[in-house]
Amino acid sequence: MKKPHDENTRKHDPSRRKFLKGVGIAGAGAAVADKLWTEAQAEDQANSPKPVSGNVKISLDVNGQKRAVQVEPRTTLLNALRNHLDPAITGPKLVCDMGTCGACTVLIDGKPAYSCLMLAVDASNKKITTVEGLGTPDKPNAVQSAFVEHDGLMCGFCTPGFITTISAYLNKNPNPSLGEVREACKGNFCRCGTYPRIFEAALAAAKSSSNG
Ligand code: FES
Ligand code: FES
Repeated sequence: MKKPHDENTRKHDPSRRKFLKGVGIAGAGAAVADKLWTEAQAEDQANSPKPVSGNVKISLDVNGQKRAVQVEPRTTLLNALRNHLDPAITGPKLVCDMGTCGACTVLIDGKPAYSCLMLAVDASNKKITTVEGLGTPDKPNAVQSAFVEHDGLMCGFCTPGFITTISAYLNKNPNPSLGEVREACKGNFCRCGTYPRIFEAALAAAKSSSNG
């Protein structure tokens, strides 16, 4: 007599047993892997420094002055300068807040950096120079004077970033070509399109510095 279909199939279908066995082994493997993963994570957490939360008190060295400020660990340097210092430092501008325009440029130990991309806590042991620290209204530096003389701005939002970048560049290369100035300014954008005047001002600043 013929056996019922399902019984027949079970008997003659070794792949089904294999499959079930496989699932069992894989399941056990996954459980072991899970356990190892959890143990490794626990060990990592025990060894890593505790996350900082809440406000932290830091000191920023801005334009030659030590300024105490309380910020959250996630606060950017730009935010700390503009919104947490009292009196505020508003030369660096908030435009894109994502490292694409250069309006927030400051000097960190003499090198241009986007302050919207740097945490204030990371800047606490560095020398920060903003456009305010390059000169004063009575005694502007050569780049600041040249921007005024050559009308190097329209809305002015990009101006502090350009002046900071160019001032740092002229310290490195006091006698640049137009091409070199353009290259040095490639991280700064002027939405008003004042580039010809900006570059003219940069070259004039270089010339006036080398003449005197
Ligand atoms: S505001 Fe920082 S790069 Fe634009
Ligand atoms: S002067 Fe307006 S963005 Fe440059």
